[in-house]
Amino acid sequence: MIDANTSLFGLIGNPVAHSLSPVMHNQAFAATGCNAVYLAFCVTDLGAALKSINALNVKGLSVTLPHKVAVLEYLDDIDDLATKIGAVNTIANHNGKLTGYNTDCQGAINALQNRTTLDGKSVAIIGAGGAARAIGFGLATDAGRLTILNRTRQSGERLAADLQAEFLPLDECQPKRYDILINTTPVGMYPNTAATPIAKQALSNEMVVMDIVYHPLNTRLLKEADDKGCLTINGVDMFVFQGAHQFELWTGKKAPVAVMRQTVLQALQTNF
Ligand code: ATR
Repeated sequence: MIDANTSLFGLIGNPVAHSLSPVMHNQAFAATGCNAVYLAFCVTDLGAALKSINALNVKGLSVTLPHKVAVLEYLDDIDDLATKIGAVNTIANHNGKLTGYNTDCQGAINALQNRTTLDGKSVAIIGAGGAARAIGFGLATDAGRLTILNRTRQSGERLAADLQAEFLPLDECQPKRYDILINTTPVGMYPNTAATPIAKQALSNEMVVMDIVYHPLNTRLLKEADDKGCLTINGVDMFVFQGAHQFELWTGKKAPVAVMRQTVLQALQTNF
């Protein structure tokens, strides 16, 4: 029930119309008895939007494309990991002080740790954009050896240097070289569902294969990995875990992860 004491949370980005964050967070608030509501705001003027946070006492925000980097200059404080990544996907308002975090990174790590171990593993990340950067910084501390596989050499080498990782052109990927393979590119996403970022021959049955794409849930990459006998992790897990961290930063309560996952899976079935 919304009343005069309801706290306001939200998402800023452009576009936001298809985001699953509102349904996920509102269900999480309901399941934990938080008197809070989460709305999606399509924002073009980022500076004006951030000024209004304190004016309206908005308690926390998710930040999505295209604002994840530009938002840094408007915050009072940025945590160490988000500073290293150079991107913020979460803002918490602590008594008027705005702090930026990056929960994409922890979300990906949790999605992996939920199904496998990372210690000493050899991990390959496909892609060198913002998602690859966030996940790479999380893995750089936990995993044994990190490789960036990217179509374009320049951006791939730049990210690899920042992460002290190896770079390899995407089309030179060999099977059996990696324990864990993570797709961070949009390749395979609806409507281009016939596409896959890496040839099936480059997959082998000992690999864990994770795709951050969740529309469709079962991408061609994951189907082919499954055919090969790999353990597969779909994009819903990372999305839910990054949201769970946001929830915990905002409320101080343990996130109802199972409720959040169920809500997202249901929304994917009905909305898409
Ligand atoms: P995000 O910030 O969401 O991660 P991004 O910055 O646009 O998105 O990065 C997209 C990544 O997907 C890039 O690494 C891009 O490769 P290039 O550096 O070669 O552009 C990769 N990517 C996008 N489309 C691709 C395709 N068709 N094949 C291979 N890689 C692709």
